[in-house]
Amino acid sequence: MTNPVLSNYQSLGEEKIKTLVSHFYQNVRKSPELLKLYPSDLAPAEERLFLFLVQVFGGPQTYMEKRGHPILRKRHFQWPIDSQMRNTGLNCMIKAIDSVEMDPNIKEEILSYFVKAANHMVNK
Ligand code: HEM
Repeated sequence: MTNPVLSNYQSLGEEKIKTLVSHFYQNVRKSPELLKLYPSDLAPAEERLFLFLVQVFGGPQTYMEKRGHPILRKRHFQWPIDSQMRNTGLNCMIKAIDSVEMDPNIKEEILSYFVKAANHMVNK
């Protein structure tokens, strides 16, 4: 059972969050549609997603200190995200989640978080 006292950040630890993000970007690298949206150097994007997830999962607020309030939907307005693009991005994340060993309850929670967040990013 998941420990209700621990945040997902504490249960997973930074290493696993980093691995998750790294696997996500390895999948992005294999997607020509997504790559069209991203800058050629993916390292800064990887760092931003890592810090964002650390914060969302209950860890330090470093993302906020560096980037300000996430306002993610607004930040994504500059890229046309239709339901197909949403699916492509989400699939990269689902594959990444599947490749990292974690408690099944946390996996389910994180999956459902990404489905909601990706739906929220659709703007076309
Ligand atoms: C599924 C469709 C999505 C697409 C096509 C997409 C695309 C992008 C692109 C092209 C960037 C710019 C990369 C950069 O930072 O240089 C970006 C940034 C970012 N994305 Fe997404 N994204 C999607 C969904 C999501 C979701 C579901 C989340 C979070 C749960 C997310 C979190 C972020 C974050 C934190 C940044 C960096 C924001 C910043 O501080 O500037 N994205 N995204």
